[in-house]
Amino acid sequence: MTPLEHFLAALIGLRDLYQLCHWNAPGASRYQEHLLFMRLYETASADVDRVAERCVGLLRTRLTPRILGSLRDVWSRSTAAWPPSAGDAREATVAVTNLARDTLRQMREASKLTPGVEDLLQSTASHLEEAQYLLTEIA
Ligand SMILES: [Fe+2]
Repeated sequence: MTPLEHFLAALIGLRDLYQLCHWNAPGASRYQEHLLFMRLYETASADVDRVAERCVGLLRTRLTPRILGSLRDVWSRSTAAWPPSAGDAREATVAVTNLARDTLRQMREASKLTPGVEDLLQSTASHLEEAQYLLTEIA
């Protein structure tokens, strides 16, 4: 798996984690949390789409079901309580933000980083940083 594919898989896992948190925050008392997680998974979904299209269009990757992210990629602590808390989602977001930075570095070192891919990874990292501080508010 290339670094960009690996990042895509983790981002898919994070999007799914946000959606699970959205579903697991029912009722009037958790409505703000419910809405926040909806915003986060909608933003992550759009980023997933852009990264996947770039993998195929630029790197000529043939995406197969193996690319589908698993929650285990971003949230693997088997002893953690279920459902994940906002703090767990924040921790996973930090991990995927760090992976965006590592992906940029690896692609630059391999001379695979185009200006467009750099911009895409930077904008995705910016959305992830925004998610981090929004999650700090409710964690
Ligand atoms: Fe919903």
